Amino acid sequence: MSTPGPDENPLVEGLERLPVHPTSLVIFGGLGDLAKRKLLPALYNLAHEGALPERFHLVGTSRSEMTDEEFRKEAAEAIREHSRREPDETVLEALLADVRWVAGTFDSASVYEGIAKVLGEFDEGAGALTLNRAFYLSTAPDFFPVIVEQLGAHGLHELPDEGEVRIIIEKPFGTTLASAIDLNQKVLSVFSEQQVFRIDHYLGKETVQNMLAFRFANRMFEPVWNRDHIQSVQITASEDIGIGSRAGYYDQAGALRDLVQNHMMQLLCLLCMEPPIDLGADEVRNEKVKVLKAIRPPAPDEVDQMAVRAQYAKGSAGGEDVPGYLDEADVPADSNTETYAALRLHVQNWRWAGVPFYLRTGKRLARKVTEIAVTLKPVPHVAFGGSDPAHPTTLMPNQLVLTMQPNEGVSLSLGAKIPGTRMRIRPVQMDFQYGTAFVSQSPEAYERLIMDAMRGDATLFTRNDEAEAQWRICDPIVSTWEATPGPLPQYEAGSQGPVEAASLLREIDSWRRI
Ligand code: BG6
Repeated sequence: MSTPGPDENPLVEGLERLPVHPTSLVIFGGLGDLAKRKLLPALYNLAHEGALPERFHLVGTSRSEMTDEEFRKEAAEAIREHSRREPDETVLEALLADVRWVAGTFDSASVYEGIAKVLGEFDEGAGALTLNRAFYLSTAPDFFPVIVEQLGAHGLHELPDEGEVRIIIEKPFGTTLASAIDLNQKVLSVFSEQQVFRIDHYLGKETVQNMLAFRFANRMFEPVWNRDHIQSVQITASEDIGIGSRAGYYDQAGALRDLVQNHMMQLLCLLCMEPPIDLGADEVRNEKVKVLKAIRPPAPDEVDQMAVRAQYAKGSAGGEDVPGYLDEADVPADSNTETYAALRLHVQNWRWAGVPFYLRTGKRLARKVTEIAVTLKPVPHVAFGGSDPAHPTTLMPNQLVLTMQPNEGVSLSLGAKIPGTRMRIRPVQMDFQYGTAFVSQSPEAYERLIMDAMRGDATLFTRNDEAEAQWRICDPIVSTWEATPGPLPQYEAGSQGPVEAASLLREIDSWRRI
């Protein structure tokens, strides 16, 4: 496959430099884990690339009492520790020169009065220019309703003149279907849907967006992208890490809520959706919602046949002994929370009827990999090897693997003749590697998402009906599992997952090696 030489960089050529309106960004949970690891470094990298608007103001808020200067110092440290590139101190200083911190609990009026005051000062400093406002909710989800309500109560949800106000809401968006509906109602009683940006950081990943390019910029795959040619699809999002210090969140969530309800459902939608008319937010999201609606939620007595859950037992990761889930700090010894979930779903529409979609995710599996493997049906007639019964020919079906991470790329397995006097066939790989074809480093998901939210482009964010449609599929599984006593099947840390997952597969299918 020919790839551009190292001095041509198609990514740079294609870089969009759409202007972003001057904006004040307020981060709730401004020095929380996500802000430190992802949001602040993303802002730094945007600043480094000159992508932030000329006037950009940052405000952090949470319970912690601190001065603006202390916030500046902590933010700079977080950026130095987590940025994908070594920070340039001049850029860093300029980015953080005028940051503000507002301390208080999210239900107290003083926080919102403090924010209003700071934003007012920024507005004054901007003179005739109107600053847009963006509120980023990077807190525990329990605080989302109260923050939204208070923003509304203090009139911070709108600007009197032409400026835009946007609200960016982190995951998880609800913990059940009912709570997601409730949260949507609360949010939409204060903001209009056009103002709301529900984050699913997988949509900000370059390689996830590449699925749109792969499917809709190439003629070659679309004719086979359907039930006539595809035997099965397997989506894997495995991780080698355990739950670390996140027991408080994770033990309430579990693998299905943490990764399947959001990230994996999005991958499934992008894979299955019909070609949109364009990449406008509503066109893309209309098509994704249709896919979700075509998946019938299971009845409680069907859950066992289409879903498997398990917990990691002790084992090894990266050559070190690691504890099982129940021995992790702050996990109750009798917890029934799943750290592994596998599902078999069917998209019941004209294109996909009869094709099984196998999804699996888990912590402490053999390695970290996010991939989609599309297995094509076997050729209808095998013309090789008929004359030599001693060497029957087994052809492997073509398999197309889209790897999101690591080693981002696309690989296609093809049957090829083994050199020699006999006609013997074996699979070979045709590979495209993102890193080799495009020399520049991909931006982090949050860089793209923060920019898009500030620009007002919601294409890569989850719409209200989409979030609810995702829950409609997952909710019956979660509630059936919660009502079914444990203990759960176990899998050794560092392994391929529980043997029970094989029960979801048809005889002709097998799980790919992680
Ligand atoms: C988050 C989950 O949404 O995604 C984490 O809460 C998980 O548990 C993470 O580790 C995986 O994201 P990525 O980008 O590392 O694949």
